[in-house]
Amino acid sequence: MHALAAIDAIDVPIFLLRSDGTVDHRNRAAAIRLPLAIPGASLMPCADDKARQFAAYLDRCMASNRAIPGALDIADSLGDIHGDTLGDDRPLVRFRCHGAVLRDEAQGAAQRVLLRLSEGDDRRFRALNDILGELRSELRRSKRFYDGLCAHAAARDQAEQERDVVLMRLYRANHDERLRLARDLHDNTGQHIAGLGLGLRQLERHVSTTEGHAQIDRLRGQLDHVSQELRRIAFALRPAALDDFGLTIAVRTLVEEWSETCGILTDFQSAGRKPPLASEVEITLFRVCQEALTNIVKHAPDATRVSVTVQYRETAISLTIEDNGPGCSEDTMTTARLLAVKKFGIVGMRERIAMIGGTFEVETSEGGGTTLYARIGSTELAA
Ligand SMILES: Nc1ncnc2c1ncn2[C@@H]1O[C@H](COP(=O)(O)OP(=O)(O)OP(=O)(O)O)[C@@H](O)[C@H]1O
Ligand SMILES: [Mg+2]
Repeated sequence: MHALAAIDAIDVPIFLLRSDGTVDHRNRAAAIRLPLAIPGASLMPCADDKARQFAAYLDRCMASNRAIPGALDIADSLGDIHGDTLGDDRPLVRFRCHGAVLRDEAQGAAQRVLLRLSEGDDRRFRALNDILGELRSELRRSKRFYDGLCAHAAARDQAEQERDVVLMRLYRANHDERLRLARDLHDNTGQHIAGLGLGLRQLERHVSTTEGHAQIDRLRGQLDHVSQELRRIAFALRPAALDDFGLTIAVRTLVEEWSETCGILTDFQSAGRKPPLASEVEITLFRVCQEALTNIVKHAPDATRVSVTVQYRETAISLTIEDNGPGCSEDTMTTARLLAVKKFGIVGMRERIAMIGGTFEVETSEGGGTTLYARIGSTELAA
């Protein structure tokens, strides 16, 4: 009982509890803080889970020789003295506490727990805890969302890379096939035509009639025609000038022939030393030039001046085609707009250049002419 008298003098709430949570004794501070927690009432909360935690805490205290720190939820207004419970809506307050077993030999070794509650462990603590909980779950949600976004972006990048690889393969296959066809036409069919010409000449020696000679002349004319047509097709597939003389001469020849055919004054310039170029780079730039000149005939036939420039620098090669025709609104040159109206020339140029890692730009304005720029960086140039 000395102990009980001593705890009365302490100014923090202290209870002496039985193992089932019933109050045996309390000090003055406890009576002030929890006035309804009088001896005989239970400190145990109603809610099952809270009551289990409370009971487990008391068990821990009973089993130890040291004071056990903890946190207990205790109803602010307690049930009546004889253990009747109030409804589950009693507000619970969380107290930090220390509980130590108190062995009382005089009462037949019945054990009590001396429970010291800490003030200040109140609603603010709970509110902070709630906020922390919300923040944690918000963080988890954000993390899940972020992970989802990352996975989505990675999948898209992967798909784009795969698409580029497939496009590149298709482009290469197409390019190689055209090369093969061009070579076949030149080496194989060209030889046959040359053989036919030779045969006609030999045949001519054995023909004595005027009618026979006229017939042979007609055949020779047809053969020349077939031969020219063959050269045209082979040129379209793979300009021989590219194989024989390289990009600069091939473009110069193209520009000169084009200028002569359509009667537009055209200036060709090349600057710098041409490095060894991959055949894809050569054919791509040649095709861009071809398409640009075709566009000028189609859309700017009144142009009076066209200039084509090929520039070789250490860091890049660039091709510029400029005309002083009517130009057009730059807004209409976006890929989406052009595809919507089924125009594929500019789009094709863009794609071809992109395919070999270069950049392509169109500068045009109504009444201000049109300039196309194609640029391939040095890393893509190697043969
Ligand atoms: N040099 C130019 N001067 C003025 N307008 C041009 C010029 N080049 C292109 N354009 C405009 O840009 C549009 C798109 O050109 P693009 O070459 O892609 O299509 P297209 O020549 O009309 O058709 P296709 O795809 O069959 O060649 C053209 O329809 C034309 O209006
Ligand atoms: Mg076109």
